[in-house]
Amino acid sequence: MSKVDVLLGLQWGDEGKGKAVDFLAPNYDIVARFQGGPNAGHTLEFKGKKHVLHQIPSGIFHPNITNIIGNGVVIDPIIFRKEINALQPFDINPIQTLVLSNKAQLIIPTHSLLDKGLEQEKGTNKIGSTLRGIGPAYQDKVGRYGLRVGDITEADFKAKYNKLTSQHVAMLQRLGVAVDFTAQESEFFESLEILKRFKIQSTEYLINNAILNGKSILAEGAQGTLLDVEFGSYPYVTSSNTTAAGACTGLGIAPNKIKNIFGIFKAYCTRVGSGPFPTELEDEQGNELRRLGNESGATTGRPRRCGWLDLPALNYACMLNGVTQLFMTKADVLSDMQRVKVCYDYEINGKTTKEFPFQYSRMHTAKCRSIGGWSLAGKFTFDSLPENLLRFISEIEHYTRVPVQMISTGPDREDTIIKPN
Ligand code: IMP
Repeated sequence: MSKVDVLLGLQWGDEGKGKAVDFLAPNYDIVARFQGGPNAGHTLEFKGKKHVLHQIPSGIFHPNITNIIGNGVVIDPIIFRKEINALQPFDINPIQTLVLSNKAQLIIPTHSLLDKGLEQEKGTNKIGSTLRGIGPAYQDKVGRYGLRVGDITEADFKAKYNKLTSQHVAMLQRLGVAVDFTAQESEFFESLEILKRFKIQSTEYLINNAILNGKSILAEGAQGTLLDVEFGSYPYVTSSNTTAAGACTGLGIAPNKIKNIFGIFKAYCTRVGSGPFPTELEDEQGNELRRLGNESGATTGRPRRCGWLDLPALNYACMLNGVTQLFMTKADVLSDMQRVKVCYDYEINGKTTKEFPFQYSRMHTAKCRSIGGWSLAGKFTFDSLPENLLRFISEIEHYTRVPVQMISTGPDREDTIIKPN
């Protein structure tokens, strides 16, 4: 019997999970997304081509891999259709290799309108949502109003849709949002016809039978641990469980089936949207990181906030997920900096702590130490990496007690260095 590995982000998303899954995917029979929806943007780069996936698992470019959109995901059929169309130039056949859970929730046009209305209502406390309707769709799921992918072939689907939409319209009127969504509605129903061409089934059986038959599975997380609805910087979070536990509920996998947990993190930190960010650089150095790291959102194009690596936050994420191996991305972005900083502790109300606080305010300080910089010009193996970078890595391993197994030094599949066992 085989086991399942989980790959997830340890920061505020955008850690480079798309590249990591794409790199690891050839080792697996199945790649499955377990939470989130079109708020995600997983960027893959190969053979000089760049591609961003939002809802489709990152194993899609490998013809022998089955890709699953699990029950924990919220699917926007309009965006799904666009994503499928964007795959046309590639020599792949997603109808054959992509399977949708009948229990995944649908994002309907009024969900995105509600997202906008609810954000406006929050005023200066807005979350900075991607406005893809994620929060309202998960609200309907737990409120037990939601529509699921398996419902679309049922005779009463239109009636259920109309009922939910009229509830949303009443809410939108209260929020003062204009409620003309005729164009999106016809696009939505056209897109459902595309969805119907795919295999829609109880994917929990598909996955568990695959486990019994010795197949290997990679569960692909979206967003990051610090955006988790339970443990992230609430309320500035997304609406799903981005942690390893989310792979169990979002795919129907028992915890004892999970083996490796690959935690992806950037050599520094970024965040889009509002909310606390202890090591944020709101100065020229932050602008420099943004420029060098090309830090703008893969989904919304918004500039990302940038700051130094935050070890207490990374350690918290390793603890919550039981990370077995770390994968550090974008080490090349810090290349050629004179000095690189790392946060080891926070100072909160005069006390030093290594614990991620319940609430982080501007009165708190991230206490950083600096390490000498490195240059990544040229080709490297793990052991020939510059001394200061190796020191940076060993500080991370010492702090988190988790080995850094892979390092990414550029966007291409080829720019990946693996630590020898
Ligand atoms: P929502 O999930 O669209 O409601 O957004 C909630 C928060 O999570 C906002 O701060 C978003 O910017 C952030 N967020 C959502 N998805 C991603 C992602 O894939 N990468 C990074 N941040 C994200």
